Amino acid sequence: MKSCVPTREAMLKTSHWQAATSFFQARSAAPPPRALWRSSSSAQQLRAVQCSAAEMLVGVGSSVPETYLTNHDLERLVATSDEWIVTRTGIRKRHVLGKGETLAQHGIASAKRALEMAGIAAEDVDLVLFATSSPDDVFGSACQVQAAIGARHAVAFDLTAACSGFVVALVTAAQYIRAGTFRTVLVVGGDALSRFVDWRDRGTCILFGDGCGAVVVTANPDPEAQGAILGMEMGSDGEGNKHLHCTFAGGGLKPLGDGSTPSSHAAYSNIYMAGQDVFKFAVRTVPAVIDGALAKANLQKNAVDWLVMHQANQRILDAAAQRLGLPADRVVSNLSQYGNTSAASIPLALDEAVRSGRIQKGDKIAMAGFGAGLTWAGAIVRWG
Ligand code: ACO
Repeated sequence: MKSCVPTREAMLKTSHWQAATSFFQARSAAPPPRALWRSSSSAQQLRAVQCSAAEMLVGVGSSVPETYLTNHDLERLVATSDEWIVTRTGIRKRHVLGKGETLAQHGIASAKRALEMAGIAAEDVDLVLFATSSPDDVFGSACQVQAAIGARHAVAFDLTAACSGFVVALVTAAQYIRAGTFRTVLVVGGDALSRFVDWRDRGTCILFGDGCGAVVVTANPDPEAQGAILGMEMGSDGEGNKHLHCTFAGGGLKPLGDGSTPSSHAAYSNIYMAGQDVFKFAVRTVPAVIDGALAKANLQKNAVDWLVMHQANQRILDAAAQRLGLPADRVVSNLSQYGNTSAASIPLALDEAVRSGRIQKGDKIAMAGFGAGLTWAGAIVRWG
């Protein structure tokens, strides 16, 4: 009997995304492995759906701290000016966590808003995926969100890919749905990089802000439906880590009998960024990643309705829009109000554009994230 699973040779002939999709669709037509088919009577276990399905994006929400710092506030901290920051970056203010405020609080608020828009109960979420590089707990923040929203059947874990994290998590969510493993995934993107900024370094402290955004991705009940992620492209270059990092700074001494005190707080250093190198990397990579995602989607540039990309610098946004041939009013930019919120920036921009009615059901969005790692990820996404 002929196998319905494509051969390796057949997969290599087509794009990775199409190949992976047809592989998962074919595989899930066969009986799934037993391990995925536990009874759903007890909480906090893997809940499998019966067959593979196309994913759709049905809800979005966001939340930022009330406290913010304007460029004029920063003029009092470092040798800079509102004029320099606005001209070189487009940023006017950034929100930062207040004393005692946590990132998870904003992840929870974003998640609730996204679920409310989707009309989906937290109990029906199968997976909570939190893209962040700055969790409240080094073991992750996804479980805190899961508990607080009452997603009692969901498995929850964090995913780290810096400013590319949201797109990486979105693509991961789609993979789980297409594989037939999960039906509904809550993707949260959030960061509190203000915790790691050196507020004496004018090259970085002007850029970063804190916040969260969330998207609900669920299986489309229409078996003929096409997925919402029409094409994607991702990559990493660890050689570029030297340009942008926030490394373990030591502490947490071990009782090794070398005379050191066997107990101390461990710590991370401040963010180091070689701004010009990262700028050149971004301007080179973002158009390429969008081109790659468009090719996988079999779409031309003129099919794109909106550009919703990582909000790092208005000049990078403008360069990407120019390459795509998109007019300024098709580029979602809220950078001036929030700065670079890392993994939150794309869902935060998407939330504002959807709630204001700019982005409508069926619109095609080019998304691109880039950042530390170095990492990059792009996707052509259909909203609604
Ligand atoms: N205010 C005033 N002057 C400044 C400031 C400031 N805040 N910061 C730097 N300068 C000075 C520099 O010292 C330099 O002075 P010099 O010519 O006397 O040496 C001059 O301005 C030019 O500095 P550049 O670094 O060349 O400035 P540039 O135009 O490149 O802008 C910036 C710097 C905004 C950081 C830019 O390089 C940038 O946006 N880089 C990309 C950042 C990014 O996209 N990060 C995304 C990933 S984040 C993540 O993954 C966590």
